Amino acid sequence: MPTGGHPVVYGDLLKKPGAPTVLIYGHYDVQPVDPIELWETAPFDAVVKGDYLFARGSSDMKGQVMATINAVEAIMKTGDFPVNLKFMLEGEEEIGSMNMGNFLPQHKDLFKADFCLNPDAGAISADEPTITFGLRGLAYFELHVYGPPRDLHSGLFGGTVHNPAQALAELIAGMHDANGTVTLPGFYDSVRIVTDQEREDTAKLPTTPESYLQQTGVPALWGEKEFTPALRTGARPTLEINGLLSGWTGPGSKTVLPARAMAKISCRLVPDQDPAIVEKQLKQYLEEHAPKTITWEVKPLHDSPWAITDTNTAGVRALDAAMETVWGRKPFYRREGGSIGVVAMLQNICGVESGLVGGGLPDDNIHSPNERMHLPTWHKNMDAFIHFFFNMK
Ligand code: BES
Ligand code: MN
Repeated sequence: MPTGGHPVVYGDLLKKPGAPTVLIYGHYDVQPVDPIELWETAPFDAVVKGDYLFARGSSDMKGQVMATINAVEAIMKTGDFPVNLKFMLEGEEEIGSMNMGNFLPQHKDLFKADFCLNPDAGAISADEPTITFGLRGLAYFELHVYGPPRDLHSGLFGGTVHNPAQALAELIAGMHDANGTVTLPGFYDSVRIVTDQEREDTAKLPTTPESYLQQTGVPALWGEKEFTPALRTGARPTLEINGLLSGWTGPGSKTVLPARAMAKISCRLVPDQDPAIVEKQLKQYLEEHAPKTITWEVKPLHDSPWAITDTNTAGVRALDAAMETVWGRKPFYRREGGSIGVVAMLQNICGVESGLVGGGLPDDNIHSPNERMHLPTWHKNMDAFIHFFFNMK
């Protein structure tokens, strides 16, 4: 189905009048493979090594889409399918689902369902089945800083012309205070307070400071002292530098005072932040802090809404029971720091709640070289999906 961008792939199996309808969501797009030289196998070949399948998109999320298709196929080989099914596979999730906001209202009835199974949210670990009930939103920008109209000799002009790379560094360094709190004016005004109940619930999760250290390999963690790492990623907003560009970065040296500098900056947003307001807050920060020695420009790239899903639905109960059957333990419930734009859009436009699960693991290297998928977890998820469909009927 055309969307104005990459098409949506739709399919359905509607043979059970009176039975519930499950919408299965997936995305077939992926993030860029660069730096490609760090891949040990070709990113678009699926290579199995031991318990893992390596490829861009293996975990995020073609593997997860295949798990749902395989589960459906397995059931169909044994007889009638217990519920009605709709598949919606989009091609722009990794760039903020920018066309879905127009596309979904035009096909409201087609995507009507009792529940959406969304396997794009991953699990805490292979042994810790997880239902995600919160996702952060996103507001993505480029910040361009302009100095002289062309690169200058750094000896002739250095010390008397403000270097745009330095000015950019000074500006972005000021966007956090020493505690790791974001300094954009008003940034926290609409952020929902973390309740004592949520602090208690989150403290019981296996996502500990130690697990973050172990998964990332950094020498020490960083961030707001008043919040645990699980709350910092699930319930607190952030401002992240995703990339920097300026001056000479090739091999060897070049004594240059660059004409311009650019930073890719994105904010992860939580309830009740609004990407359009965050754009204003970023611009206000720059108006207040940018020196007279340079000019600047903010180019918004894309955004994505945050989502909190209802965990009291028949769909989540069916998933919970299915996961308990397969793993032999109840799933954990957590808020996750990543974004999946369509979750809030399905709620707001189609009135459909999602169940966020998946076989993606924190050490799958999603968005990074050598992305991989853990095959034993993939198989368990297929089993869980099969139970889920029968639990739904
Ligand atoms: N599957 C991820 C998001 C995710 C990962 C949710 C793990 C929960 C657990 C999704 O494909 C993703 O990466 N989304 C992008 C969206 C953004 C570009 C708007 C993201 O979060 O960076
Ligand atoms: Mn992704």
